[in-house]
Amino acid sequence: MILIIVLVLLLSVLSNSELVVASPSAVTFNVVGLGAKPDGKTDSTTAFLFAWSKACGSVNPTVIYVPVGRFLLRNAVFSGQCKNSAITFRIAGTLVAPSDYRVIGNAGNWLMFYDVNGVTISGGILDGQGTALWACKSSGNSGCPSGATTLEFSNSNNIVINGVTSLNSQMFHIVINGCHNVKMLGVKVSASGSSPNTDGIHVQMSTGVTILNSKMSTGDDCVSIGPGTTNLWIESVACGPGHGISIGSLGKDSEEAGVQNVTVKTATFTGSQNGVRIKSWGRPSTGFARNILFQHVVMENVENPIVIDQNYCPGNKDCPGQVSGVKISDVTYQDIHGTSATPVAVKFDCSSKFPCTSIQMEDVKLTYNNQPAQSSCSHAAGSASGLVQSTTCFKIPSK
Ligand SMILES: *[C@@H]1O[C@H](CO)[C@@H](O)[C@H](O)[C@H]1NC(C)=O
Repeated sequence: MILIIVLVLLLSVLSNSELVVASPSAVTFNVVGLGAKPDGKTDSTTAFLFAWSKACGSVNPTVIYVPVGRFLLRNAVFSGQCKNSAITFRIAGTLVAPSDYRVIGNAGNWLMFYDVNGVTISGGILDGQGTALWACKSSGNSGCPSGATTLEFSNSNNIVINGVTSLNSQMFHIVINGCHNVKMLGVKVSASGSSPNTDGIHVQMSTGVTILNSKMSTGDDCVSIGPGTTNLWIESVACGPGHGISIGSLGKDSEEAGVQNVTVKTATFTGSQNGVRIKSWGRPSTGFARNILFQHVVMENVENPIVIDQNYCPGNKDCPGQVSGVKISDVTYQDIHGTSATPVAVKFDCSSKFPCTSIQMEDVKLTYNNQPAQSSCSHAAGSASGLVQSTTCFKIPSK
């Protein structure tokens, strides 16, 4: 006992107080001990990057501790490769982006983790301070920067994002790109329902991503699922306001990786523009979406609860007259009920060249104004049971 106390004292003296022994195996760096200031005004980027370089260079499990307070950070890249495969950011406080959106507005990312393995972010609020940029964009000013994604993991493996709140991001809140084995638990995304391009969680070119017990209120997709996403599991999530959970837009590029094995289970959509959606550009592509399951979903006053739209072509630019090459198959909608804010609750508008196949609907019960809502299908084939909607929807028009 005495020996341990002596050891701890000795170590804390040796390390100028920024080093704390948390347990025999994990080392903790407090960013304040490394020069960060919790005043919301002093740029703490250097201290955070210094903490990162210490953790990254260590072979021991390491905690970077951010205490209560507001820490102003510019755009920062926490990059690998590291000697360490067990780094935890434990955040009790708030990380704040510069209030002048121009400082990071063209940087692409605010907080970026690149080429890392075994990183956990636990707790904390990430405040992107995006409101002034949204106002700039909404005013039609063409000189506004595109904005920075709040938190991105790129080319990384074995990532956990636990109990993190992302507030008012300039652009996307969280992006997972080129990653393997990512768990997001208890994530909260919060931005105005009218904020532009503020997707909650965007996943692309990644496999083995899980999103659990999370809540997204934002101005664009709550979750957007891009090309090259496989084995994605989303369970117990709430969305609204927002544009729903969207696979797509797919087929933007002619050569594109497909989306495969996506499960959305136990989700609630409240006042959102869409519920569950698959969307592709109306132009040629090698892309596809298959083995998709939407299960146990509650819709509350959702404008477009169930959508497949293969004729996406914003501004009618670069695709008029073309049809989507994206092949959509094996999509199951199971136990989906609630209310639609518009008369047509189910819309399948598939590619005339590559019709949707094996669309299955089981126990889909959506109402509009206390009446069964309608469905509309074109180029969609599949089966249906236990519907409130018309079951005559699945028919491929004769050629
Ligand atoms: C589909 O993805 C889940 C994880 O979301 C995984 O457990 C399962 O093995 C995958 N299925 C196939 C056939 O790859």
